Amino acid sequence: VGFLTRIEKLRTAIKQAGFDGYLIFNSVNTLYFLGFPGASALLVPPEGESTLYVYGVNYEQAKAVSKGFDVQLVKGSENLLAKIAAQAKANGSKKLGADALGVDAWRNLSKEFPHEDAVQVNGGLVQELRKVKDLEEIALMRRAGEITSEGMEAAAEAVMAGAKEYEVAAEIEYAMRRVGAGPTAFETIVASGACSAFPHGGCSGREIRKGDLVVVDVGATFNYYCSDMTRTFVAGKASVRQQKIYQTVLKAHNVAFEAIKAGAVIGEVDAAARKTISDAGFGEYFVHRLGHGVGLEVHEPPSMFTENKDVLAAGNVVTDEPGIYIPGFGGVRIEDTVLVTTKGAEKLTAGSYSLDGV
Ligand code: GLY
Ligand code: MN
Ligand code: MN
Repeated sequence: VGFLTRIEKLRTAIKQAGFDGYLIFNSVNTLYFLGFPGASALLVPPEGESTLYVYGVNYEQAKAVSKGFDVQLVKGSENLLAKIAAQAKANGSKKLGADALGVDAWRNLSKEFPHEDAVQVNGGLVQELRKVKDLEEIALMRRAGEITSEGMEAAAEAVMAGAKEYEVAAEIEYAMRRVGAGPTAFETIVASGACSAFPHGGCSGREIRKGDLVVVDVGATFNYYCSDMTRTFVAGKASVRQQKIYQTVLKAHNVAFEAIKAGAVIGEVDAAARKTISDAGFGEYFVHRLGHGVGLEVHEPPSMFTENKDVLAAGNVVTDEPGIYIPGFGGVRIEDTVLVTTKGAEKLTAGSYSLDGV
């Protein structure tokens, strides 16, 4: 497992940022570097083994799974920040970076050092690493995508007039758990009728009626990695207006997918999808960004919005999810999770694009 490789990449980034040590508190970041979620902190020295701080409840597990790390037991009565500061000083660190620290924690940690600017928060450098998925992460995200696609197949069968939104959600989540999913990456959205016009419409006990648009947004996790996929169905036969909206969103989704590749400017990908929707006369109803990065978190960098001048890199995983939401009428969103490659893009979620339901 490439966890120590990730630490070495972090060490390079730390030095480039002018630090001689780095402290990680964010639990998603410790998960990224360790592969298990139970660590309270991780201290990376300029050289040699990193120190992992773990309370008793997770200590044995940490020792069992964290090879190549110095695992320190933290007792409930101990001052964790003082313990970390003592180790950082023993490591010779004089300029310590940290991924995330509250103001109180920053003050309490800083006072252990002789210079008042010894600790600086810079979480961006870990985010930059996490944006580019390595081969192990890509394999896990492929599986998360496959499982999510199975969940969507269950949705396509369950969406029908007379079914309640939560019944559809139950079928989806059952299908995903059956094939090895972890908890869902976010609360499953089954939003029918006028509620489908709320992009994050919830999942209620509403009964789906004939002719309703139904937005289904679902994401499995697999080994902590997330996936994110949306399809929109009509219970029964779609009207001409529903079809026109659907075809517009699908076109925007395809235009964006074609534009996604290493080196593409993110803002230009968003703008291409947005132009497709504006040209069809629905510009004011596309009320959110084109998409977002996905990984250990369902929403993480990079953010896919018009003003973003960053470029995509091979190994980024992002969503392509244009939508049109017409208040009082209903909404359509089509979303896939997409891996950026040097040649173009690969969909990690897969499924047909078909509006008509049963
Ligand atoms: N599932 C939330 C989103 O699509 O961003
Ligand atoms: Mn989604
Ligand atoms: Mn999404």
